[in-house]
Amino acid sequence: MALTINPLSHALGAEVTGLDVTSDIPEAAAQQLEEAFLEHHLLCIRSVPLSPADFARLARHFGEPQLQLLRDQRAGDAPEVSVLESTYKTPESKPDDLTMVRLSGWHTDDSYFEAPAKATMLQGLAIPDSGGQTRFSNTRRAYDELPQTVRARIDARRAVHGYDTARATARAKTLSDQEQQETRDVEHPLVRTHEDSGKRAIYFNPNRTDRVIGMERDESDGLLDELHAWITKPDFQYHHQWRVGDILLWDNRCLVHSVNVDYPVGQERRHQRILLKGSRPV
Ligand SMILES: [Fe+2]
Repeated sequence: MALTINPLSHALGAEVTGLDVTSDIPEAAAQQLEEAFLEHHLLCIRSVPLSPADFARLARHFGEPQLQLLRDQRAGDAPEVSVLESTYKTPESKPDDLTMVRLSGWHTDDSYFEAPAKATMLQGLAIPDSGGQTRFSNTRRAYDELPQTVRARIDARRAVHGYDTARATARAKTLSDQEQQETRDVEHPLVRTHEDSGKRAIYFNPNRTDRVIGMERDESDGLLDELHAWITKPDFQYHHQWRVGDILLWDNRCLVHSVNVDYPVGQERRHQRILLKGSRPV
């Protein structure tokens, strides 16, 4: 299996060609994928839509799949696979103010858990004719290029992450009692060190980070607003234009993402997703 790795942008991401997603991955190819993942933080594999079982089998090459929090999104025969439906089924379901659509907010998946998913694997199953790109921004580069004075302000700081926070523009889905039990607020460092590469990245989830510990609300909001603007600078971004079957694997430890939610009403947009278990950020 001869793999080719081609960068997708200056900011992050690489396309992998030559990978047969339905067979076992030989050791040398697995090593090459691991290195490319650490260097580019996002891999794109072109494919046809996979069954949930095949999708889960592929994911196990990259880590250990975890169960999806929201019960109603779990796929029946493979409970670690969730189906994410983002179609606007009626004109009323697409608001005039698109910031009210939760997906449009920048975030890193799962940061409201003590040990958030290290990576996400997402495959496009139905894609609208226009819009709907997933946008990624590189928070490791954002940290590297941060002015020293700002680094000094955030290096030893910790922040509270919650399932929902008033800082997010749009509200999160309502949880069942059991789901609420599983999503108490947690604390994470504002700068985390990647377990596999040793590199530092800003770890901030605009949809879920509520406040910086040890700061008054105003000061904390000011700092988080500043970080939000910095980590989403166009220089740090790559926008993925989906094709049906595309599989993206990305690193939640050093990327944030959001969706261009401006796509036509009535055109299907659907993905399947697996989260890979991670460890507690340090
Ligand atoms: Fe996400």
